[in-house]
Amino acid sequence: MATTLNLTLKIWRQSGPDAAGELKSYDVPGVSEEMSFLEMLDILNDRLNDLGEEPVAFEHDCREGICGTCGLMINGQAHGPQQGTATCQLHMRKFKDGDVITVEPWRAAAFPVVKDLVVNRSPLDRIIESGGFISVNAGAAPEANLTPVPKEAAEAAMDAAACIGCGACVAACPNGAAQLFTSAKVAHLNLLPQGQAERYQRVESMVDTMEEYFGSCTNYGECQEACPKSISIDFIAWMNRDYVKAKFKNRKLLGQRK
Ligand code: SF4
Ligand code: FES
Repeated sequence: MATTLNLTLKIWRQSGPDAAGELKSYDVPGVSEEMSFLEMLDILNDRLNDLGEEPVAFEHDCREGICGTCGLMINGQAHGPQQGTATCQLHMRKFKDGDVITVEPWRAAAFPVVKDLVVNRSPLDRIIESGGFISVNAGAAPEANLTPVPKEAAEAAMDAAACIGCGACVAACPNGAAQLFTSAKVAHLNLLPQGQAERYQRVESMVDTMEEYFGSCTNYGECQEACPKSISIDFIAWMNRDYVKAKFKNRKLLGQRK
């Protein structure tokens, strides 16, 4: 039989980007350990609605670890206590009866609070816009075996493509750096044959855009610990090597165009 938990939540409440915020306490009794963390917040919000109080704003969409919208700081840990797990896939069985759980938004200079637990993560979109795509003329899909892909490259690109863009790596980093996100987005294209045409332009542009918004990486490694998709910091080393190569290649290409 499922156990129920009586919890106290300390939740960051902030009515808008310029308003002062504070942690407010809420008693949440009768939480099933089989609920997800977000379902537990749904129950709190139902009760706040019934009381005529403002529900807690938090982001979510797929609730199955795919969309990357649901990031929360839970007891100071990005996505909570279970490694390799997004907030929406965290279950209440990870907590004990009587626990006091602090729930805050991502804390990073690049992610200002919009309301309560919702932050603006659009600087991640700016990085993607600057090169996280492959330029193709849309048309019929080419025959799959027309472009052979080495198995190692396919597997590494697949590992990088697991990034869901949640921003936990930024929130967990003491420098507020976005190297893990950027390196995953660079690698999943630059490792594949289809990504080669724009490889050096892509890495230079994405890294330069990243530097405009985020702090610098000093190899703390907190990002890979917080990442719900367990993306390795090896991708950061790989991106840094590609970036240095890009500096030479792009200068040479520029000289050839003149
Ligand atoms: S690298 Fe991991 S933590 Fe960072 S945005 Fe991607 S999935 Fe989230
Ligand atoms: S709600 Fe989509 S990843 Fe959590």
